[in-house]
Amino acid sequence: MEKTIKIGILGLGTVGTGVVKILKKNQEDIAKKVGAKIEVTKALVRSLDKERVLPKEMLTTNASDILDDPEIDIVVELMGGENPSRDYMVRALSNGKHLVTANKDVIAKYGKELFDIAEKNNLDVMFEASVGGGIPIIHPLKDCLIGNKIEEIMGIINGTTNYMLTKMTRENVDYQTVLAEAQAKGYAEADPTADVGGLDAARKIAILASIAYNSRITVDDVYVEGITKISPEDIANARELGYVIKLLGIAKEDPENGVEVRVHPTFIPNSHPIASVNDVFNAIFVTGDAVGNTMFYGRGAGELPTASAVIGDIMEVTRNIQHDVKARVLCTCYENKKICPIEESQSAFYVRLLVKDEPGVFAKIAGLLSEENISLNSVIQKRKVNNCAEIVFVTYTVKNAAIREALAKIEALPVVTEISNVIRVHEANE
Ligand code: NAP
Ligand code: HSE
Repeated sequence: MEKTIKIGILGLGTVGTGVVKILKKNQEDIAKKVGAKIEVTKALVRSLDKERVLPKEMLTTNASDILDDPEIDIVVELMGGENPSRDYMVRALSNGKHLVTANKDVIAKYGKELFDIAEKNNLDVMFEASVGGGIPIIHPLKDCLIGNKIEEIMGIINGTTNYMLTKMTRENVDYQTVLAEAQAKGYAEADPTADVGGLDAARKIAILASIAYNSRITVDDVYVEGITKISPEDIANARELGYVIKLLGIAKEDPENGVEVRVHPTFIPNSHPIASVNDVFNAIFVTGDAVGNTMFYGRGAGELPTASAVIGDIMEVTRNIQHDVKARVLCTCYENKKICPIEESQSAFYVRLLVKDEPGVFAKIAGLLSEENISLNSVIQKRKVNNCAEIVFVTYTVKNAAIREALAKIEALPVVTEISNVIRVHEANE
């Protein structure tokens, strides 16, 4: 007789609704594929008055109706945020339930706690939707690419900021205008801080880096810069130099200094595949020592794309239950690697600054750069701004500490009015 796997959903918002829709629409196929019927028994919400995809009698505002129900096999957490989601996930696992979640906030900070309880209780924890929405990336890193030494992960892992930067690039609009438009379209949240400030991407790259480098990396280990300082001038300069600006999450390992994990706007050469990833799309570019370059592309958010990843996890847990192979891949962090301080990390830099328009200014700046052994790849003197000349230069690869030191000295020069922006550059041969 066909077995029924019972699931309880915590949160019936955008993603929870998508999960119920897919389970209903593809019910028969899903059952055939995993050899069991998957049935939602209850969903936790805050308000019982909203119109829902499930009948009212299947809703509850009391988490215990799901967490303490002995009939429920899998708890699917889709509420978001740290609290009370973290407590509910701990309770679900402690009560012997497998866990599927899309919650990057909790996984990036308290993943280890959840994996430890799951391991003790022989349970699965799946979180494919926590990074890249519908794009498969957690499973490829944990399974398909496991034989590789991962050389680098470089991802556009926040759709809101990619939409904003694409719009700024195509339409020459400023940051505030494009943010207001992204909010009006529902891409950016009412409080967009986590997206534009880079924290959302930081949580996601922390999760990917932990898996790729087999060492626990939390969101607090990630160096973060957001897109709030990107101006139409920077976008235009990037275009002139043959680049586009993207907010990237980057993880790589330096044998001496440890794992480098950072999120920041980056000049990407037009020729790089990630440069053509536009609008709300996400892409994760993974380089392995055996496979070479790979790119995972798709929708990083949205009701059905994100639910697609959640359903995949639910079906995998169901298969595992059917074959009695629980907790096959839980925590993969068997190393304890150090985190590379940002001062030790290396990249090329774009610098835009305003200087007094008089003879010898550039010679002084070049002298200070050369004191730090920084050589220049390109220099352009741009327009006049309030009687000052705008200078743009791009360095070759340098240590972060060296450029910081040089810029502090340059900023102190009486002929320098301001350093308007400093952005990392991904060199074409990197
Ligand atoms: P959402 O639309 O805001 O839905 C959240 C749901 O959780 C709502 O049904 C809400 O109830 C319920 N909820 C929240 N706090 C609760 C509490 N304290 N007690 C009971 N119920 C509570 O969120 P979402 O966009 O679906 O996101 C869910 C998760 O997926 C998050 O971790 C998010 O980061 C992740 N994710 C989302 C996307 C996306 O495209 N949206 C993409 C990737 C990952 P009410 O309906 O009654 O308010
Ligand atoms: N806020 C995220 C983004 C979607 O803009 O990509 C959820 O991960």
